[in-house]
Amino acid sequence: MTLFDVVFSGNDTVYGLTEGAIDAAIEKHGADKAIAFPDTAYSLPCYYAVTGTKVATLGQLKEALGVVKTMMTREQKLNDAFMSGIATALCAEFIEVLKYIDGAAPYEAPCYGHLADAVIRELGVPLVTGDIPGVAVILGAAPTAQEGVDLVKSYQSQGILVTLVGGIIDQCEELGYKTGANVRVIPLGKDVTSVIHVVSVAIRAALIFGNIQPGDAAGLMKYTMERVPAFVNAFAPLDPVIVACGAGAIALGFPVITNEDTFKVPKSLIVQPDVSKFNATSLEARDIKIKITNIDIPVAFASAFEGEIIRRGDMQVEFDGSRVDCCELVMTKDASEIEDHKITLVGPDIDEMPVGSKQSICYVVEVAGKSMQSDFEPVFERKFHSYLNCVEGMMHTGQRDMIRIRVSKETFEAGFRAKHIGEVLYAKVKSEFAAVVDKCQVTIYTDPAECTRVRHEVAMSLFDKRDERLNTLTDEGVDVYYSCIMCQAFSPSHVCVVTPERLGLCGAVSWLDAKATNELDPQGPCQVITKERPIDERIGEYEDVNEAVQKLSQGALEDVSLYSIIEKPMTSCGCFECICGIEPLSNGVCIANREYAGMTPIGMTFSELASMTGGGVQTPGFMGHGKHFIASKKFMKAEGGVARIVWMPKELKEQVAERLNATAKELYGIDNFCDMIADETIAEDPETLLAYLEEKGHPALTMEPMM
Ligand code: SF4
Ligand code: NI
Ligand code: NI
Repeated sequence: MTLFDVVFSGNDTVYGLTEGAIDAAIEKHGADKAIAFPDTAYSLPCYYAVTGTKVATLGQLKEALGVVKTMMTREQKLNDAFMSGIATALCAEFIEVLKYIDGAAPYEAPCYGHLADAVIRELGVPLVTGDIPGVAVILGAAPTAQEGVDLVKSYQSQGILVTLVGGIIDQCEELGYKTGANVRVIPLGKDVTSVIHVVSVAIRAALIFGNIQPGDAAGLMKYTMERVPAFVNAFAPLDPVIVACGAGAIALGFPVITNEDTFKVPKSLIVQPDVSKFNATSLEARDIKIKITNIDIPVAFASAFEGEIIRRGDMQVEFDGSRVDCCELVMTKDASEIEDHKITLVGPDIDEMPVGSKQSICYVVEVAGKSMQSDFEPVFERKFHSYLNCVEGMMHTGQRDMIRIRVSKETFEAGFRAKHIGEVLYAKVKSEFAAVVDKCQVTIYTDPAECTRVRHEVAMSLFDKRDERLNTLTDEGVDVYYSCIMCQAFSPSHVCVVTPERLGLCGAVSWLDAKATNELDPQGPCQVITKERPIDERIGEYEDVNEAVQKLSQGALEDVSLYSIIEKPMTSCGCFECICGIEPLSNGVCIANREYAGMTPIGMTFSELASMTGGGVQTPGFMGHGKHFIASKKFMKAEGGVARIVWMPKELKEQVAERLNATAKELYGIDNFCDMIADETIAEDPETLLAYLEEKGHPALTMEPMM
């Protein structure tokens, strides 16, 4: 048998199973029975992406199977094998979708099965920044459970997203290894067909971030090959079905590494008999580079631990800024005042604190460097959250003086002490900000009286000063804006224009961040954009900005405005914190944030809005934006500003209320504007919304028609 024959026979087997399953389902439910994966706007994402057709019923699924059959050509050629691989993947998707008939929940913990669109959107930013340098798909059972778990752990500690299919899931359970999306180890399912759920993620990434048009199979394969750094580790024994699935993976550009002595295809099907070398072989095959951070601490440090949750019962100690005095602070000093890598603890260490107690902590990171500017201080500080969360067994939330940190018992028992917080901050600040930081020292205060002093006498006044500086930063008051093209890794034509009053749509890049990024890495993702040649002040359009956007989007974008949602709006990549869209009946806009899962009066959920807004193309009437932008005086300024906001989820409204109320008071003299804005507890449809707005006398009702 040739490798081609193996692929074809595996493909035939899966096709036969799929046909049988669909026929049986039609027999049972009838051809008109609706089928769908939950929480996706892309129907059967793989089939939709490859063919451009959305499948909604069993009858249509049967027709789709006919289309799949036409891909199953049987010449002994590479292309035939690839197409049969894709056909196998599509069959797997059909088998999987049948499991979801009647809203069934076919997967139970720890398995995830189908992943929602929202999960893919969340992966966008870390994939772009390289915090997730790759995606591993591990299939089957390792020779021993320990070898399997070791492999999973090796990827996890490199920040690689790990998905598991089949026996490896039982091996992780057997050894009590923690899995879950929050630690980036995702068991998909025990059947081999469940591998489609990670393929579906890669494919939806192409639709969401890459603006690949459904039906453009060639564009799709080019995108996944070039931009989705995934690979497969398939344990022996391989049967023809697995090999056929593997051919599908290879067609998408994902190499398959196996310990079975089988056919070899250079760079695509790689035999590595030694499982302990799977990691190195895979990274080399996919050309994935891991950023090495050597930090002198007794536990692991990796972005995979960022989402880790430490429950009350598992914590050794908690530092809680909402109860006692805490703060985190960066201060610029003269080089002569600093001793590099000096880490000082003032107060008791963790082993002197009662188990489970609430404690004070302040850590002050003092830096010096010729190019250091005090504007960078808050930029560094904001990264502390991610640095400390990357420590295995450590959880950090909040910022400034409202921080909360938990250290787990396991991490404490591994030897983690207060000074290690200093080691982490020192190592990260020195490596990430090497361009401006020459010397760095860290002082950690745990003595309650000292913490009170540092918080109230040092930190608070600095924070106040910074707020003043931020509040006085206006678009008119600065000479330049910045571009950000970080997301082009996934959304090749997307450009964010970041101004003092309009931060990047991901919410993570303010004008100050962009400025610091530019100065730290002048050739990097953030470039200076001048604003000397205004075209139209009303919508915020500039010749220089247009030129920059044209150049940075490689000609995909002609012109953008900064302040309009209708005329030449900015594009969206896919990692927006919020989306706002026009609600015609009320003459206003509704905003939905990513966390909100319910319906909006526009008649679409966040993910449905998102599927209209991403991909780096302009979509007049819809706009992705950061949460912070909601209270900006430049928010939809061309259409009349924040007075257009008629609806927001309750939780989001509470988060932005203080600043938004202040903006509305200043712009229109309205008190408590947020009370006029409806939320899901008031209205989820346009008519109820309108009635509420009329009752409240909402200003949007009397503004000029938007459309
Ligand atoms: Fe992506 Fe824009 Fe955020 Fe930059 S500012 S990371 S391009 S969303
Ligand atoms: Ni953690
Ligand atoms: Ni993005």
